Amino acid sequence: MRVAFFGTRSYDRHYFDAVNAARPSSEQHELLYLEPRLTAQTAPLAAGFPAVCVFVNDSVTADVIGQLAAGGTKVIALRCAGFNNVDLAAAKSHGITVVRVPAYAPDGVAEFAVALLLTLNRKIHKAYNRVREGNFSLDHLEGFNLAGKTVGVIGTGKIGQIFARIMLGFGCRVLAYDVAPAEDCLKRGVQYVSLDQLAAESDVISLHCPLMPATHHLVNAALLAKMKPGVMLVNTSRGGLIDTKAVIHALKTHHLGALAIDVYEEEEGVFFEDQSVDGVQDDVLARLFTFPNVLVSGHQAFLTKEALSNIASTTLDNLSCLQRGEVCANRVEKS
Ligand code: NAI
Repeated sequence: MRVAFFGTRSYDRHYFDAVNAARPSSEQHELLYLEPRLTAQTAPLAAGFPAVCVFVNDSVTADVIGQLAAGGTKVIALRCAGFNNVDLAAAKSHGITVVRVPAYAPDGVAEFAVALLLTLNRKIHKAYNRVREGNFSLDHLEGFNLAGKTVGVIGTGKIGQIFARIMLGFGCRVLAYDVAPAEDCLKRGVQYVSLDQLAAESDVISLHCPLMPATHHLVNAALLAKMKPGVMLVNTSRGGLIDTKAVIHALKTHHLGALAIDVYEEEEGVFFEDQSVDGVQDDVLARLFTFPNVLVSGHQAFLTKEALSNIASTTLDNLSCLQRGEVCANRVEKS
């Protein structure tokens, strides 16, 4: 199948080319790598391509889907798990099939959430810079032991379950909130509680549920007020789960002890781009950078060799499956 790739980065090209070349010739696809993100302005670049391949910050709105359909596109292949950026109703009405990569390396994402937590707690990012400047002072670098602390996990799907398991290994008490409790967590002694109880008792809260209307701004002023003073919040899921302005207020009053985010609700058009010359234009994001107890990474949690390789092979399998006219198990449809 001929595929127009949007928002291509060097690592996408590297892994997709390698995985594509290793497939039998009948299963190989013709990949055209485009640098720009998919937007209403760049959608015409896909004209004549039966498939487009997109990532988390491509803008797959009704308008864009209409343009893709007019250009003959029949398949939107997401090279990620989340599909909150795709108007599924519009895709359905234009007869476009949407497929995704439901799981590519949940361990890598859970491990990254732990890395953020440990870095922020033990202030490794500050120590790294200090030491390189010859400053070996330990002032203001104190953290806390994780052993014995209560960790709240919101969303115990593939990633949340692994995160919970790692936290149990650290000797933490693990609380969880999910609309569908996971057997593995229950078996290991994770305690499912209400969102309010999780907020009230957790020293650390990590978000691992998907972004959908029911979870948009799940962490808002009301929930923050119920959290323990000094709580640490980690978000490697989707930015829209957090009301960033409410979080900034909680940081200013010191009710929120620390924040680590790999995702931001307005990251589209900012993350994955080099903004170092022009400066960050988003004032809310810029305000976050002013807090010493905030750690931001640019949607990096997925970025492991294993994940990139799995993303490429599952995406190409999805395309082959559709090319053969079969029903693809990784299809996403409006429920
Ligand atoms: P999953 O689908 O396996 O698990 C999601 C869990 O959230 C399920 O257990 C589900 O029951 C639960 N859930 C659904 N609605 C809920 C609600 N209203 N309240 C509480 N829990 C709810 O998803 P997976 O693979 O664990 O991924 C989780 C999220 O991580 C994805 O939706 C994606 O947005 C994000 N992600 C971020 C990456 C990054 O690079 N930062 C990489 C991969 C995923």
